[in-house]
Amino acid sequence: MDFQQIFNAAPDVEASAPGRVNLLGEHTDYNDGFVLPTAIPQQTTVYVGPSPDDRHHFYSAELAEWIDVNPAESTPQGFASYIYGCIRVLEQAGHTIPPINLFVTSTVPIGSGLSSSAALEVATLRGLRSLLKLDLDDVKLAQLGQQAEIQYVGVNCGILDQMACSLADTNHMLFLDTRTLDRQILSFPNGAEIVVIDSGVARSLASSGYNQRRAECETAARQLGVKALRDVNDPQTADSLPEPIRRRARHVITENNRVLKVLAGISAEAFGELMKASHASLRDDYEVSVPALDKLVDILQNTSGVFGARLTGAGFGGACVALVKTGKGKTIAQSVLTQYTNAGYKGHISVD
Ligand code: GLA
Repeated sequence: MDFQQIFNAAPDVEASAPGRVNLLGEHTDYNDGFVLPTAIPQQTTVYVGPSPDDRHHFYSAELAEWIDVNPAESTPQGFASYIYGCIRVLEQAGHTIPPINLFVTSTVPIGSGLSSSAALEVATLRGLRSLLKLDLDDVKLAQLGQQAEIQYVGVNCGILDQMACSLADTNHMLFLDTRTLDRQILSFPNGAEIVVIDSGVARSLASSGYNQRRAECETAARQLGVKALRDVNDPQTADSLPEPIRRRARHVITENNRVLKVLAGISAEAFGELMKASHASLRDDYEVSVPALDKLVDILQNTSGVFGARLTGAGFGGACVALVKTGKGKTIAQSVLTQYTNAGYKGHISVD
């Protein structure tokens, strides 16, 4: 199916955005901290044209789902909520958006922690920017995508995913200070490439403990008398806090410190050690791992040629990312997947 077949007309514009994988800096963005994502080769593409009537019409090729939206009625559910959210935040920003036809197709895995949501938001906003010649830069576009997700999907997310989908490329790491939005494009450590394997355990952010973790961090910052946990550098500062707030804060503080270590330029071995420490912290202090992710990370970390591995994204399911020796990605991914399958799990390779 394509736009022409669904809407019986040719689209006016086409726009794409990639998914992302976060290499370090997990659950730091809503604490004003540091993140280090890269784009993945999989993309979401939208085709957009004017609607022939007073409604928006959205079609998802992967879901084979058609949604009609009356702009005056309440928010639609599912994939349409992201698109509708983007339209609404543009309207709130003072832009006039006429009724549109939008066809979406995507190769970004859904529910894997690889930002299928942000890829859809950024692709939609890029499509509308080009259709309506809107004066929006890539940072503003990412901020609007984040607002769409918070207001219309109900996930109180940070800016990591939308900034990565809007500004990262597949050949570099994007270091981002989420408070100032200062950023640096960094090379991957020498002699290393990335493997991403999905654990097969899907999760939805809206129904996970995500919003609760964010609230715990805000409590920790309040009790420590700082604007955000980003303002604390010494993990021992968290010792005065009650459990489980103490461990939540300790994860954020140590994770920010790990990201900053990369800025100095480090070896693949040192980077791998930071990834291992990050996974342990997400598992023990932040408690967002699940047995399948721990198993997958365990297999990865015991495989020759792997520098380090960790869960990526919000956790509660989704994918693991590993830093491996250049040229070994495909072989390592296959061998790890076989061991994971033999242990009774059903994963798949997302990027190798
Ligand atoms: C999700 C959110 C991001 C970020 C990560 C965890 O992907 O959308 O803002 O908080 O989880 O690092």
